[in-house]
Amino acid sequence: MLITFEGIDGSGKSTQVQLLASWLQERGKKVATFREPGGTVITEKIRSILLNKDTEELSYKAELLLFLAARNHLLMTKILPLLQNETIVILDRFSDSTIAYQGFGRGLNVEEIQQLIEFATDKLRPHVTFYLDMCFTDTVKRLSAESSRLDRFETLGESFFEKVRAGYHFLQKREAQRIKMISGKESIETIHSFIIKELQENFSSLL
Ligand code: ADP
Ligand code: TYD
Repeated sequence: MLITFEGIDGSGKSTQVQLLASWLQERGKKVATFREPGGTVITEKIRSILLNKDTEELSYKAELLLFLAARNHLLMTKILPLLQNETIVILDRFSDSTIAYQGFGRGLNVEEIQQLIEFATDKLRPHVTFYLDMCFTDTVKRLSAESSRLDRFETLGESFFEKVRAGYHFLQKREAQRIKMISGKESIETIHSFIIKELQENFSSLL
């Protein structure tokens, strides 16, 4: 089973990924988690190129292709073998991030991105995606407490992130069955309980 988490920076994805992984492990499941971009030596190197704000600006299409290169490498070397081994794979970001950030945020053509995503992922799609909905202003309040964390994207500002959020809303409406939305402003426990309930109700056979 492939489960993904989506949302703008600071919306609480990593927190929920860890809670869900622990919950599944406590029930004896084989679980693997990865953040995107990342997860292998090569994709962590690609991550540092993408997120380091101190180097030169990347062209938007180069940025898109690097995210997709990292995704394909992680898929081929880790995700697919783990799924074949009946491991539940949980991803902190996947293809929806690319539509939301490079499509809606950067303004690249969404249809073209969709085709490139299909090429890069061999059309692999998550069984379920949890989207933590939050506005930029609320995430900034959280992240400014950890300002050393701000990367290339997090310094982009409100107008960029409101476009990204609109992208997520577009995707959620288009694929309401797959993408489960919850406000990231709810408490950590409330969000975790929502996720567990969704999985128990709709995916008990896969868990
Ligand atoms: P993301 O992975 O989406 O960037 P994180 O899980 O790293 O987000 O959370 C960002 C910050 O917000 C962290 O300091 C985390 O402890 C805190 N946080 C996460 N979820 C919540 C929540 N539901 N309510 C309040 N703070 C939260
Ligand atoms: P990360 O620190 O992992 O995310 P977060 O701040 O939410 O914990 O940073 C990944 C950044 O890369 C984030 O700003 C979103 C961006 N991104 C894209 O623009 N496109 C993509 O396809 C992916 C996977 C991430």
